[in-house]
Amino acid sequence: MDEFHQILQRAAVIPVVTLDRAEHALPLARTLLDAGLDVLELTLRTPAALEALALIAEALPGVTVGVGTVLDPRQLQAARVAGARFAVSPGLDPRLIHAARSFDIPLLPGVMTPSEAMQARALGCDLLKLFPADVAGGIAWLRAVAPVLPALAFCPTGGVDAANCAAYLAEPNVLCVGGSWVAPRRLIAAADWAAIGRLAAQAATRRMSR
Ligand code: 3PG
Repeated sequence: MDEFHQILQRAAVIPVVTLDRAEHALPLARTLLDAGLDVLELTLRTPAALEALALIAEALPGVTVGVGTVLDPRQLQAARVAGARFAVSPGLDPRLIHAARSFDIPLLPGVMTPSEAMQARALGCDLLKLFPADVAGGIAWLRAVAPVLPALAFCPTGGVDAANCAAYLAEPNVLCVGGSWVAPRRLIAAADWAAIGRLAAQAATRRMSR
């Protein structure tokens, strides 16, 4: 297992964060870090995302910040320049896989079917985002593909929450899980760091119980 995989495995839970205001980046990342979560994914769904990413990458070297919702190679390059340490895309796009290699940034492509997982494998990816995990079939999906695609590990995302994350993490082909429940957009908008801190602390117990 390479160093990046080890970081994600140790993290166990990766908050998927959408920031509407860059000024929320540091208080949020500090809240997550203080609670014990040192890996986070910032989605490229708002104009503030890249600035927020750069602020975290610059000020908090102890946080492994990645970029999510990557749809085209130009976004990947911009995120790399801003300091992203990894990237996540909702689907499988060979252009992104090639670009990630040339920009030297680890990429988790999204898959939802065995065919996509096979394609990702053929393109050299062995850690995949299962998305949307709940729609795909959740734990039943993971168990069904485990014997036929034993070399693959997954980060289920989409419908993962405080109630089911432990069950996902108990699956042998799950390296980590991702989800927005740890830092919901409405709590970020309200700057309710105390509430996010409680959710994050609860999620962080998952890494200790692994
Ligand atoms: C993602 O970007 O990975 C998902 O939107 C997160 O899904 P969730 O909101 O169901 O956790």
